[in-house]
Amino acid sequence: MKASSKIDLYVTCGPGLEKVLEQELIELGFPNVKPGFRGAFVPYQSIRDIYTINYRSRIASRVLLPLLRFRCRNARELYNLAQHIQWDRYLKLDKTFAIDANVTHPELRNSLYAAQVVKDAICDQFVTATEKRPPVDPKNPQIQLNLFIHEELAVISFDTSGTPLHKRGYRLEGGEAPLQETLAAGLYRMAGYKGDEVLCDPCCGSGTLLIEAALIASKTPPGYLRRDWGFMNLPDFATEEWLQVKNQADQERVPLQKGFFFGCDKSKDAVRICKTNLKAAGFAAQVEVSLADFREFTPPKAPNFVMVNPPHGIRLEDVGVLKPLYRALGDFLKRKTAKPAKGFVFTANNELAKEVGLAPKKRHVISSGGVEARLLEFDLYEGPKVQKTDL
Ligand SMILES: C[S@@+](CC[C@H](N)C(=O)[O-])C[C@H]1O[C@@H](n2cnc3c(N)ncnc32)[C@H](O)[C@@H]1O
Repeated sequence: MKASSKIDLYVTCGPGLEKVLEQELIELGFPNVKPGFRGAFVPYQSIRDIYTINYRSRIASRVLLPLLRFRCRNARELYNLAQHIQWDRYLKLDKTFAIDANVTHPELRNSLYAAQVVKDAICDQFVTATEKRPPVDPKNPQIQLNLFIHEELAVISFDTSGTPLHKRGYRLEGGEAPLQETLAAGLYRMAGYKGDEVLCDPCCGSGTLLIEAALIASKTPPGYLRRDWGFMNLPDFATEEWLQVKNQADQERVPLQKGFFFGCDKSKDAVRICKTNLKAAGFAAQVEVSLADFREFTPPKAPNFVMVNPPHGIRLEDVGVLKPLYRALGDFLKRKTAKPAKGFVFTANNELAKEVGLAPKKRHVISSGGVEARLLEFDLYEGPKVQKTDL
């Protein structure tokens, strides 16, 4: 599809990240971004926009290019209108494809069924022209399409990201409850992280918060390690132009200084995984990770920025066990930071959050994995008042 100012790209994000995504897109040079449900609309001017957002947005999950918008009253209309797209422009017989569907419609039974109708329309169009059908791979497709139907508005889009953008390429292993990379980047934007602070994550797990901070501080594009993108299958994809966009972003990278990033975890496995991921991200030498319980850990340099996602428990009985840990986290913030400092605790458990024992300056509400979570912001000055508050 040729770029035209009448088309909006739809840039998706995780729940609760819409505002920070908008801010980021404006900074990336898209001032006319409009808010959307779990995402934002960006007026589409040129294929460079697609390259730029995919390569440089830390918060976006996917960049969708609409191919067709239509009113859809039933499955027959969906089938017929899906055939209006000239599919051999986007799909090839030697490349697998899949359709990700998000459908709420009274006549269409469910998203899977609606996706099947579109898949049939596509395959029938190919069979009529070539007697062959393009292969489908729902798990790991080379080309990803997207179907969105809400009430009677249907949109079929080409997913220009392909593999979702949180898959940066550095997470070789996950560990216990790792944060999604795009969510971690969103938390840093909410926190106003600049990249020149001395940062510590005292429950670092697989290292997502440390690595996303290091990426921001070194101005490394989040797509730096990726090689494959959905947009490479677009008919107007041009390697030279893409490399211009990529090289321009890569030239902004600055070397990461040692002595600014510290983490610890009490789990041997977590520390091993974190170090593996740091190495994959290229930050093994600059980010120092220790095997330690944070209650006994003193970072080699006192941090003035703490970002932490402590365990928050799943079962009710976990809460009692975890309360002392949250109290100790409050002590860590008070005792181990270089004042003035900022502390951020991301947790899905409100009851536990109160145990930190400091009055939060702000609470940013974010949904994470279907659970409502909060990023609590603490301002730490010399001798802060210790008080419990209703969060
Ligand atoms: C929710 S996970 C953090 C996940 C991490 N943000 C990531 O993206 O991988 C919580 C981590 O806290 C660690 N932890 C729990 N208690 C700790 C303690 N007292 N000291 C240090 N680490 C602790 C656990 O081992 C676990 O790796």
